[in-house]
This record gives sequence, C-alpha cells and structure tokens, in this order.
Amino acid sequence: MEKTFIMLKPDAVQRGLVGEIIERFEKKGFKLAGMKLIQVDRALAEAHYAEHRGKGFFEPTVTYIMSSPVVAMVWQGKNAVASARQIMGSTKPVEASPGSIRGMYGLDVSRNIVHGSDSVTSAEREIALYFKPGEIIDYPKVGDEWLS
Ligand code: TYD
Ligand code: MG
Repeated sequence: MEKTFIMLKPDAVQRGLVGEIIERFEKKGFKLAGMKLIQVDRALAEAHYAEHRGKGFFEPTVTYIMSSPVVAMVWQGKNAVASARQIMGSTKPVEASPGSIRGMYGLDVSRNIVHGSDSVTSAEREIALYFKPGEIIDYPKVGDEWLS
C-alpha cells in the first residue's frame, strides 16, 4: 500500500495543532505506519530540502525546520501521496483551498504548518531519511476492509 511522509512543522507543534492535523489524516482513512517527535539537526534539514539548495528560501527554511521539534509521520493508504497533498493544500497558504490544512491554519509560505511528500519517489527518500526500517510498522487494523 502506498506510503507518504508527513511532517508537522515547528509552527504546528508550537501552536498546538498536532492533534487536529493528525485527526484529518486519521479520519480520511489512512493508516499510521510510523510516528515520532524529533529535533531536526542541520544535516537532516539540509538533506530534507536538498532539491531547494541554492534558492533564496533554502537557508530560512532549513533554519525554521530546526527551530523547534517536529512530528515525523508515515501514513499509508490508497493514493496516499496525492491525497495527503490535497488535504494539506497548496504551498502558499493564500493559494490553498480554505478547507485544507494550510488554507485553514496558515498565513505565510515560510510557516506553512505541514510537509508532505510530492511523489512516491520522494516519499521513499524522505521516509528513509527520518525512519529506520524497524520503525515503520505493518499491522492489521480494524476497518481496513472498508477502505480498499
Ligand atoms: P516546496 O517543496 O516548493 O513546497 P511544498 O512544501 O508544498 O512541497 O518548498 C518547500 C518549502 O520551502 C515550503 O513548504 C515552504 C518553503 N518555501 C518558502 O519559504 N518560499 C517559497 O517561495 C517556496 C516555494 C517554498
Ligand atoms: Mg516539496
């Protein structure tokens, strides 16, 4: 089953939005496969945003992601990558649909609350950056049969 990497960024943790955001993914029907609260260091932050190295927002984004703990998660389910991006909304909160997480809770692109992988390939890379194989758990869950 498709997996995606979701990270609740420092502003989500500081603003007390962790529970509400997790609830959105949980109620959509995705299954939680991994989760932890971590303090991101510079090496991990730069690896995470490697595709943006050289852009003006790279250093501010790296600094921001290290500014407070984040919640790293793996969610799985049908079309998990695309579906999660839809739940999150567009990168810039002003362009995100009003019901999306970024649309509901964000004002500025530089503090847009949540990260989600943009492709299955990115998801595999990001999951491997943040989790050891044994931290991703495959388990049967009541209700699985109603969602496939
Ligand atoms: P990007 O990968 O383009 O967006 P997304 O998070 O939706 O995949 O950019 C990564 C992060 O960099 C983005 O979430 C916030 C930050 N960023 C800025 O601060 N300014 C910008 O103009 C862009 C494009 C991104
Ligand atoms: Mg991205």
